[in-house]
Amino acid sequence: MIDIRDRVRNKELHAKIVSAEEAAAFIKPGMNIGASGFTPAGYPKAVPLALAERMKKEPFQINLWTGASVGKELDGALMEVGGIARRMPYQTNNDLRKALNAGKLEYFDLHLSHSAQMVRYGFLGGKVDVAIVEACAITEEGHIIPTTSMGNTASFVQEADVVIVEVNTSQPLELEGMHDVYTPEDPPHRKAIPLCKVDERIGTPYIPCGPDKIKYIVACDIKDDVRGFAPIDDDSKKMSELAIEFFHQEIKAGRLPKNLLPLQSGVGSVANAVVTGFVNSDFENLEVFTEVIQDGMLDLADAGKLRFASGTSFSPSPEGLERLYQNIDEYRTKMVLRPQEISNSPELARRLGIIAMNTAIEFDIYGNVNSTHIMGSKMMNGIGGSGDFARNGYLTMFFSTSTAKDGAISSIVPFVSHVDHSEHDIDVFVTEQGLADVRGLSPRERAKVIIENCAHPDFKPMLLDYYERACKATKNAHTPHILSEALSWHVRFQETGTMKLK
Ligand code: COA
Repeated sequence: MIDIRDRVRNKELHAKIVSAEEAAAFIKPGMNIGASGFTPAGYPKAVPLALAERMKKEPFQINLWTGASVGKELDGALMEVGGIARRMPYQTNNDLRKALNAGKLEYFDLHLSHSAQMVRYGFLGGKVDVAIVEACAITEEGHIIPTTSMGNTASFVQEADVVIVEVNTSQPLELEGMHDVYTPEDPPHRKAIPLCKVDERIGTPYIPCGPDKIKYIVACDIKDDVRGFAPIDDDSKKMSELAIEFFHQEIKAGRLPKNLLPLQSGVGSVANAVVTGFVNSDFENLEVFTEVIQDGMLDLADAGKLRFASGTSFSPSPEGLERLYQNIDEYRTKMVLRPQEISNSPELARRLGIIAMNTAIEFDIYGNVNSTHIMGSKMMNGIGGSGDFARNGYLTMFFSTSTAKDGAISSIVPFVSHVDHSEHDIDVFVTEQGLADVRGLSPRERAKVIIENCAHPDFKPMLLDYYERACKATKNAHTPHILSEALSWHVRFQETGTMKLK
């Protein structure tokens, strides 16, 4: 048994240390479980594994609320036994994705900045019955020191009837001091969030809880299930170069300061590659106001180019995680983790003037973006924080390779098969073919620039042909479409395996 008593600094709480099985036995069918975790970082592991074992013997389901996606010991283990009835707000687990696309569970995909307040407002069908929270330590006052993510944990703890704390000894105690926990009041009492610079601290270094709410404490030493990134390919490199060239032009035009504005960069390999591109650039004193701190940010810090990064989780590769742990004292001077309600706050994204850089599945010639659905119906991951940032950034950019599935699919289509971000939100599109700056352009102007600069040569003539015929058919209407054809590219792919014309 792992000894966690030195990490549970309130001695009276030692009596509440139990096995994961004993804590999991408290959970009843149909309960709303609010778990810590955002990406495979800082989520509980021992109690969910014990819960999944219990569900094998006595099948039942719970509703699972987290910060965002979580690792295999939570989503994976519970999905293996069909233990989740309802899930929010984001996921990336294969089994979960298959199940929600087969109608086997209800998935509520929502803006990450909204999720904590949705819980507090009581909009999600009840309260948090049990919060299960991974911690580095518990303070003498019974407050919780989080680990590698903040997510929605503070609000789950605030709203929960009962809190189960998993003290994870694989998480270094030096993480203490890396968090800034601030929960806004709800309307009509809400005030302006008092943060005007990325490095300001406005809250506490712990999640307020108190000893009485803590029912059980469980020991765990399982590490975060972080994943590696795909090697940076030529397309990602090209997109990164295009973005950096664009930023140089913006500085020259007096629209961006020399060290840019706080960068927000989405999840995944393209986003990581774009940030990594800054390492070899001549930008200095960069600031980051984002969700997820990945390897690219550590590279920036190591290269001396990062002034400060604010996020809600550390989600690097396995090597990145080791690097974080080994240099944690240094990184603590340059990084902070905040609740996702703050890291993704529309108010703060607008006030700080962030540069929002996210990835699209597809976008259309008029600038609408689909970030979530494959062929209009199948959920990929979820909107995550992309809407929080895209709607409110100073400069909103979307990246995507110009084709998918070995060139059979054009990522630029006449009409997106699902809309997450509308034409009104986006300033710049980037593919490996080029960059389209659509600020101040009408839909017809936008279409020409997007097709010309971003489309793959295999699809460019087809897109131009559609656009020109749509203009003719509608007598140059504001946003010309031939409705019977607008989704025909997706239909053709489903019927023939390619969007190309035979
Ligand atoms: N049509 C159909 N399928 C497509 C496609 C298209 N236009 N574009 C991509 N795909 C498929 C890929 O082939 C791949 O399929 P596979 O898993 O079967 O290989 C899958 O979609 C993912 O594509 P990939 O190129 O690997 O994307 P990625 O890892 O860069 O992720 C998103 C792209 C959009 C899925 C991801 O960024 C996301 O979930 N975004 C929404 C949330 C978000 O933006 N969060 C950040 C806010 S801080």
